[in-house]
Amino acid sequence: MNVLVIGSGGREHTLVWKISRSPKVSNIYCIPGNGGTGAGAQSAEIAVNDFEALTGFVKEKNVGLTVVGPEIPLVKGIVDYFQQKGLAIFGPDRKSAQLEGSKVFSKKFMKKHGIPTADFKVFSNAGDALSYVDGVRGDSFSVVIKADGLAAGKGVIVCDSKKEAADAVKRIMEAREFESAGDSIIMEDKLTGEEASMMAFCDGRTIVSMVSSQDHKQAFDGDKGPNTGGMGAYAPAPVVTEDINNKVKTQVFDKFLKGIREEKIDFKGIIYAGIMIDKGEVNVLEFNVRFGDPETQVVLPLLKTDIVEIMEAVVDGKLEDVKVEWNKGACVCVVVASGGYPARYEKGKLISGLEEASGIDGLTVFHAGTKLDGGVLSWGGRVLGVTGVTEDLKGAIELAYEGVGRIKFENMYYRKDIGWKGVKHGK
Ligand code: AMP
Ligand code: GLY
Repeated sequence: MNVLVIGSGGREHTLVWKISRSPKVSNIYCIPGNGGTGAGAQSAEIAVNDFEALTGFVKEKNVGLTVVGPEIPLVKGIVDYFQQKGLAIFGPDRKSAQLEGSKVFSKKFMKKHGIPTADFKVFSNAGDALSYVDGVRGDSFSVVIKADGLAAGKGVIVCDSKKEAADAVKRIMEAREFESAGDSIIMEDKLTGEEASMMAFCDGRTIVSMVSSQDHKQAFDGDKGPNTGGMGAYAPAPVVTEDINNKVKTQVFDKFLKGIREEKIDFKGIIYAGIMIDKGEVNVLEFNVRFGDPETQVVLPLLKTDIVEIMEAVVDGKLEDVKVEWNKGACVCVVVASGGYPARYEKGKLISGLEEASGIDGLTVFHAGTKLDGGVLSWGGRVLGVTGVTEDLKGAIELAYEGVGRIKFENMYYRKDIGWKGVKHGK
């Protein structure tokens, strides 16, 4: 079978790498792809939102399964479009994708179906939100303000005073920093604890959890600095103990499944719960309807079962029939970024040492913002995900940093402490 992966990040390179290991696959394509996907998959210059051109490509190349990486085409209804043309596609339809596309929809879903999440209020005009903030007694006020719609992960502002909250409302609803994503906002209680990512395969009737993982969202060591798309990840995350895993199953995923059935949401694809763990309790911070990035880079290398078998079963509503198995061991991905990211950075720097790094046993370099042009050039904020798999977390950290040590490009930047939180848990 021929497979198409849609997207161009580290997540998509990892999907190409994993899918190409399936004995079921003959040719693999990645659109638009990056400088690394080209090694395993052919690419084409089609935008991820050009559904007509994408279905044209799929028919021309006789693609039997399309896998969608990013959220925007999902929220725009790529799955419905493919289904109407009778083409097999892995991912949730437009109705299901609202669980990520609208934070108001998602929070209301959680509340209605008893999924633990921070208490919240919804505002659809700035005046109401500002008078609410103004009416709060005292000056200490810890809330998180979230633009309703998609804002490339940037529409969430954590506030610790009434002034910060009022400023956030003005930025989102008056200055329109995130455009129409700020038509409505969520104002929710600020939670404390440790975050983890839980992804699961879901075919609308059965839900199968993946190994836990943990992202490192802040730019600098010690979780300091601005939020980024993710500076590294590791799996499994020891903070997700067996007890927490059970709570995620019963309080989050089982209730999610019951909820989508009641709401007649035919969810097929990946459901990702960003969770906060505090004193043994779990709260959901957000749902995403796709693989996480960079969580995918650390979770898929541990998957033992053929991913194409799982994806086909999800599309056909037969996930119940597949035994999803995981390898023992740990995986760490260190993101190598362009200096300056997440703010302004330069592109087009020649990258050396990729082959030397990939030659290390147990190490894979996933490309994100790269481009082939003579050599491999940096072409985005997050450039590479240097990923090591071995039997334990400490070993995987060492392996990943050994790989990073062989790679060079001008102004490259990476965090030095990826995985340390897991080690602190004593694993
Ligand atoms: P979200 O996109 O909703 O996951 O939010 C992005 C990030 O904001 C999360 O990964 C958390 O670090 C932080 N965050 C979101 N909601 C809360 C909350 N209720 N309390 C504390 N931090 C939060
Ligand atoms: N790593 C967070 C995300 O994929 O949304």
